[in-house]
This record gives sequence, structure tokens and C-alpha cells, in this order.
Amino acid sequence: MDFKQIVSHAKEYGFIYQSSEIYDTLAAVYDYGPNGVELKNNIKEYWWRSMVQRHENIVGIDAAIFMHPKTWKASGHVDAFNDPLIDNKDSKKRYRADVLIEEQIDKLEAKAEKEINKAAKRFGEQFDREQFVTTNDRVLRYHGEKEALARRLAEAMKKNNLEGLKQIIEDLQIACPESGSRNWTDVRQFNLMFSTQLGNIAGEEGKLYLRPETAQGIFVNFLNVQKTSRQKIPFGIAQIGKAFRNEIVARQFIFRMREFEQMEMQFFVRPGEEMEWYEYWKDLRIKWHRAIGTPQEKLRFHNHDNLAHYANAAVDIQFEFPFGFKELEGIHSRTDFDLASHQELSGKKLQFFDPELEKSYVPYVVETSIGCDRMFLAMLSQSLQEETVPDADGKESTRIVMKIHPAIAPIKCAILPLVKNKPELTEKAKAIFNDLKFFTQCQYDEKDAIGRRYRRQDAIGTPFCITVDFESLDDESVTIRDRDSLKQDRVHVSKIQDVLRDKINMESLLRSF
Ligand code: GAP
Repeated sequence: MDFKQIVSHAKEYGFIYQSSEIYDTLAAVYDYGPNGVELKNNIKEYWWRSMVQRHENIVGIDAAIFMHPKTWKASGHVDAFNDPLIDNKDSKKRYRADVLIEEQIDKLEAKAEKEINKAAKRFGEQFDREQFVTTNDRVLRYHGEKEALARRLAEAMKKNNLEGLKQIIEDLQIACPESGSRNWTDVRQFNLMFSTQLGNIAGEEGKLYLRPETAQGIFVNFLNVQKTSRQKIPFGIAQIGKAFRNEIVARQFIFRMREFEQMEMQFFVRPGEEMEWYEYWKDLRIKWHRAIGTPQEKLRFHNHDNLAHYANAAVDIQFEFPFGFKELEGIHSRTDFDLASHQELSGKKLQFFDPELEKSYVPYVVETSIGCDRMFLAMLSQSLQEETVPDADGKESTRIVMKIHPAIAPIKCAILPLVKNKPELTEKAKAIFNDLKFFTQCQYDEKDAIGRRYRRQDAIGTPFCITVDFESLDDESVTIRDRDSLKQDRVHVSKIQDVLRDKINMESLLRSF
């Protein structure tokens, strides 16, 4: 399904609504509906249990959103958490200078892809993509221009060269998408942190920030957690929580939001051992994504050219969203930057005494950080499909089905009496529902023809539909319909839980990688 269809499906089926819709919405802020909150909670549970439950040396915390303002000075966010901003003087629209340039890079790639696709059509099965890409003049030119531009952008970003960014925009004659004009202001830095004010302290002293990442709540609690959980290095602290960024470019639905949720884990290691752990976490995080059913070809690593102020190595796990490969998760080797900065500014020691080495040191940190909302969007976009299937009467019809892993599906099974107006069927179906609701998340539905009810459940990814028919009254059996294969198996009521358990169970998923 294309991106537009995914966005409207998300609303129509109660996954995601725009915030404050009755007041014409608040840009880049979203609310999760009844199916959305179930799916989001399941994603969080999958992440939490694979971190905290599966690792005896990872523990969790839930830190407050507000932190002492010095936290953000020490972390570097007050001085360096900026995006380069440019305004168009005619439309008064504001853009991220680097994003305007990245869009030109994407356009060059799209032009090359268009040539490749045209040739693939022309040559049919004989088409050799690799050979075409390395020999065709036009493709070589587009790729050459793209790489040169990407290098120029990376260089300007690395050196914080704001004039350089403006020069690229002028050289490429980039126009404002809104007004079509090239009447730009200079590029300047814009800090992404939202701030608010304490009620009882006026001025700068009382200025608080809404955390732009959850990680700092972990760093400032490092010693508290280490001591109270008696962990030894290497060990990790995990946290799921809200983060806030005053994003200039807020587009692409829940991909880039101003209020979002992060699932972060800081792994504290001996200095000098960080690269081993960095590789370990890269490998394990890809396995986590693969286990939930994400195909290998939809995932790739992308090394950062431009390292954040705290990192000595960083890689993104990119996912192929409907608008291209983009960052889904970041894995960063953050050195001792954060702990050492907090130690210096607070004057409190943040060190670990290593009994094997018989010395104290500030640990190094390898972080894995994934946006819960981006993971949600990845799950929606990879699992929503439109396909042709046989109807109940043998004809063909199309259905929209969400082929999501059963363990994270919002609803695990629907209990459906074959028809609504037969009390003996509805009573039996309700009795089954009233028992199964203690076992897992189910829905009872008796409205409309059975085919339409199946379609409704397909559209929200329910892996199993249990139909109660007239045979059920005689032999206590029901049919269990599998969402993906459409196979229907006859099962005794007492065996329903056994059939479902292994497939919907988070335990099986956690054991699978
Ligand atoms: N603690 C490290 C950190 O915050 P990041 O790469 O800035 O690193 C980590 O963010 C993850 O948070 C990203 O990979 C992305 O999934 C998610 N994320 C970041 N900004 C976001 C936004 N504006 N909206 C939704 N998710 C976002």
C-alpha cells in the first residue's frame, strides 16, 4: 500500500488520529486510538522483555521528563542540539537547510532509478541491473552528482558551515516548495529543545526543558541503579518514555513528531571494550527486527558521516519506509562523554570500582535507541497489504490485510457467531468470548455478514477468527480461521487456547532469536 493509503487506514481503523482534530489539529503531534494503543503497547513489551527480561545484566528505570536544567548543559544539548534553519522571505515558511539539500539528493537518486526501471522494462528478463548501473551514462552522471552533493553537505554540516549550506542552496537554485521563490534568509542555528518555566522561580533560573532524549535520565541515575541493583560492568539500563523536539520539518506522519516515545538502553562497559559491544548490539538489534518478521531487504545499516557531539562511532538501522530508506534506530558508542560531563558539572563522582582491574573508572557507553512511533510506522507499512482472495461463494475479491506478527497484533482473536439472529449461537459465542478474554486480547463481533466481519479483522491484523456455527451446538467445536493462509480448522472449544498459545505468545518470539 502507498503511504497515503497507510495514513488513512491508520485513522479509519482506530490506530492513529491527528492531535486536537476538532481544532484543526496540532502539527506533528498524534494520538493513538484503541487499536493503536494495543499495538504500541505490544511493541513496547517486545522491546522491554527482550532487553530487561532476556538479559540478567540489564535493568529498567522510569525517570521523570523534567530534569535539573544543568543536565542539558552537561549533555551538550543547550549548546549543540541545533538544526540549521532557513526562512523563505516570501512564503514565511521555515525549512531545515540540510533537508532542502537532502531532497535534491533524493531527486537525483529518483532520476537514476527511473532510468533503471525504464531499462528493466525494455530488456525484460535479460536485464542485468549491476551492469546497467555501472555503465549507463545517465545513471553514472546522476549517481556522480548525487555523491558529490552528499559529500558537500556532509562537509558543511561537519564544520558547522552555515554560509556553506546557504551557498549550496543558491548553487542548486532551490526554490521554496510553497511560494516557488528563491528569496531566502541566511542559515542560522535553531535549538530543538522545548522549554517551560517553573512557577516559583522567575527568569533563566527557573527555565526547564522537556527532555529531548530519555538517555540523560539514565546517565544521572547511573550510580543509584548500579548500587541498588548490585550490577557489575558490563551492564545496561533500559527505559521507555516520552521525548520532545521542536522539529522544524514535521512531515511524514508519525515519522518525525514533536512529542514521541523512545526505547533506549545504555550499556556501560570498560573503556577500550566499547567497539566489541558496539558490534554485539548491532548484531542483536538486527536479529530483534528480523524475529518480528521484518525482511532482511527492508533493513540496512547506515554509518554516520557526521558524528554527534557525544559519539566515537554511530550507525543507523534504516528501514525502507514508503518514502525510502530512513533511520529507524540508532546505535551509538557514546564514549564516557555523558558520565564525565555530569561528573564535572555536578562535582559528584560517577565511577565504577572494577574489582577485577582493581581500579575505578568512568565507564564507556554503547547505546541502542529506537523510536517507538517509528517502529509502529515500520510495522504498519510493512504489514498492510492489498490482495485478492477467494470469497465465501468462490468468487475473487480484494481484501486489505495487516500481516503483522501475531504476538504484537492489537487483537489476537475475534469470536464470531455465524449469524446474529440465533440466540443459541450468540450465547455460545459470548460464553467462549467471556472465557477467552482472560487468556488474551479478543473481540466479540456479531454485526454484518461473516465475510464482512472477517475483512474488518483482517484490516486490523487479528491473526485468528473463531466462528461459532450450528455444528458447534452439537459437538462443541468451532472453526479457527488463519488470517494469512485463510485455512479453517475445526477445533474443540476446550483446545482453542492450546492452538493459539504458541503463535500469539511473546515467549516464543523472545526465544526465536
Ligand atoms: N539518545 C540518542 C538519541 O536520541 P536520536 O538518533 O536523536 O538519538 C533516537 O534518536 C531515535 O528516536 C531515532 O532513531 C528515531 O527512531 C527516534 N526519533 C528521533 N527523533 C524523532 C522524532 N522527531 N519523531 C519520532 N521519532 C524520533
